[in-house]
Amino acid sequence: MPHRPYVIDEMISAKSIAARIEALAREIRNEFSDTDKLVVVGLLRGSFVFIADLVRELDLPVEVDFLEASSYGDGMESSREVRILKDLRGAIEGRDVLVVEDIVDTGFTLDHVLHLLESRHPRKLRCIALLDKPTRRETTVKADWIGFEIPDEFVVGYGIDFAQRNRNLPFIGKVRFTDTA
Ligand code: IMP
Repeated sequence: MPHRPYVIDEMISAKSIAARIEALAREIRNEFSDTDKLVVVGLLRGSFVFIADLVRELDLPVEVDFLEASSYGDGMESSREVRILKDLRGAIEGRDVLVVEDIVDTGFTLDHVLHLLESRHPRKLRCIALLDKPTRRETTVKADWIGFEIPDEFVVGYGIDFAQRNRNLPFIGKVRFTDTA
């Protein structure tokens, strides 16, 4: 990946993200109100900040697990071929499961992960994504809850990276290259 210079323009503030998560957590709580324990599955690495904030707003008994799927590598384009790099620690058969994704772009990652988890026969499987880029979709997959719909821009922050950088920004920003290439 060539190191082109870029700046980050704020797109979604930390305050807006927090407010949206509060509202989403209420909806998720209603959907899983009868659960004995919800397994919240974060897709690494981009969802680690989102899942941390979301579970703290969820007034439910929860368990947290993680799954890592390959996607972009260090580039800006989806590889389309999804591989599981790290599987769940726990079994989910008969369990209530919420998958937490950072961004649905082409949808290949989420589609693959949901099919995989469905094949393990959970009692109920739902999915939330913080960001959705609907104009980029190449699959029919749909998240049950979306934080924000965004245009086709490359974004970073709040756990989301560009070549492993900028995950620690408290807001979502878009990458704007400052050279002319
Ligand atoms: P998909 O399989 O094309 O839907 O890609 C989903 C994954 O690609 C996300 O979980 C992110 O890790 C990554 N991704 C998609 N869009 C962006 C972006 O704008 N910035 C950083 N990573 C992204």
